[in-house]
Amino acid sequence: MPDGPPPEELHLSQRPAVTEPIPGPRSSDLLERQAASEANTVAYPLSLPVAIDSARGATIKDVDGNVFLDFSAGIGVANVGHSNPYVVEAAKEQLDAVAHTIDFPTEARLAFIDALDSIAPGTLPGNSRIAFGGPTGTNAIEASIKLAKYNTGRSGIVGFDRGYHGGTMGALSLSGWSSYKSDYTPLLPDVAHVPYPTPRDGETPDAALEATLEEVRAVVSGRASGLDEPPAGIWVEPIQGSGGVIVPPEGFLAELAEITAAHDVLLIVDEIQTGMGRTGEWFASDHAGITPDAMTVGKAIGGVGLPLSATVYREELDTWGPSAHAGTFRGHVPAMVAGTRAIEYIDEYDLLDRATRVGSYLQDRFREMQQDCPSLVDVRGRGLLIGAEFRDADGSPLPDVVESIQTRCLRRGLVVWTAGIEGHVLRLLPPLVLTDEQARVGMDIVQDVVETVTEETADGR
Ligand SMILES: Cc1ncc(COP(=O)(O)O)c(C=O)c1O
Repeated sequence: MPDGPPPEELHLSQRPAVTEPIPGPRSSDLLERQAASEANTVAYPLSLPVAIDSARGATIKDVDGNVFLDFSAGIGVANVGHSNPYVVEAAKEQLDAVAHTIDFPTEARLAFIDALDSIAPGTLPGNSRIAFGGPTGTNAIEASIKLAKYNTGRSGIVGFDRGYHGGTMGALSLSGWSSYKSDYTPLLPDVAHVPYPTPRDGETPDAALEATLEEVRAVVSGRASGLDEPPAGIWVEPIQGSGGVIVPPEGFLAELAEITAAHDVLLIVDEIQTGMGRTGEWFASDHAGITPDAMTVGKAIGGVGLPLSATVYREELDTWGPSAHAGTFRGHVPAMVAGTRAIEYIDEYDLLDRATRVGSYLQDRFREMQQDCPSLVDVRGRGLLIGAEFRDADGSPLPDVVESIQTRCLRRGLVVWTAGIEGHVLRLLPPLVLTDEQARVGMDIVQDVVETVTEETADGR
């Protein structure tokens, strides 16, 4: 039973404390030094120009002493809060004992495998195998591609338009973002994409779902998309996170599971962003009551941001042999200890319920804003994964509005993130330990900023 502090006591403060300008002088100095030395691939400080000193719970302190509320959790990583002491203390003990054990057994490793198995969706608990490769979510996706090809003897892989599965060649092949891919083609052969079920132009959710399922049926039977036989697997995000927090119509995952099972095609559910309680269940697959053939996890499973990912799959698929998915870092043991502790902490403090409750509050606040902001065209999400979509009167996406909201929120002491291929969705994914007061204070800032920015846009300023 955890003796860690309750969620309310994890934070630096309940409200932000910032002094303009943002970035302050010390942040500016570090940002300049970084720009002079690090690669052009650095991206986050371009949108959120601060240098971080420390972080606790749902709060971040920059090097100038400004304290921000964090509604992004390091992009869905710090689910139990930054530097949660219950997690950190055990990870430190493990570091003192040994950090690197390749894939030799340790008590900590086996405890984590048991803990992850116990929270896996559907009938996986007690019937799963877990593969560790490199520490990133992307690597878990690569492992799952190999697993599906190996078990089916087929080469085709299928993803969804606007899906995001990571940055290496296999994961990128599955992703549905052409802007990330076009400079690096050719990627993997035998890849098809089908539309995610998103109602368009007045279409009903049922019609969008049926249109998607029709495409999926065509693809799995080898009748479409240039694959000359059924694919090895279909990879799906249960909610598309980076693609714009797109929540599919009810029944989508269950129907997908039925179709793939009937055609002996594997269903791989990518829970890297939606897992570890983010949507109010341990995994978003739980909402649909399905058992994925395989599930990829990453981001929050390393407890407090220690890098760890895994591919969890039905044990019948464990047909491959030693080093079938190799890597020096095959599960980092301090990260595993942190993951076990994070699972205990989520359980002890009912963070799944909290994600549902606080998430509803955040969505309600956005819905109130919709009364006065016609450009806030949609609010959606589940638990603490929430998207607010902005479009103009003609239906064109408004990425500049979202960027301006993000910048101004930062100046007021609130870190928010974005989503959508067009960048027109404001994405909130705070730590699950966000307090009611932090939720209220943060949404007061969002509301003020959204009203100001959308009024200015309407005035043509
Ligand atoms: C759904 C999903 N899959 C895969 C990835 C890739 O994970 P990583 O960035 O840890 O490689 C991400 C990252 O955002 C993601 O959201």
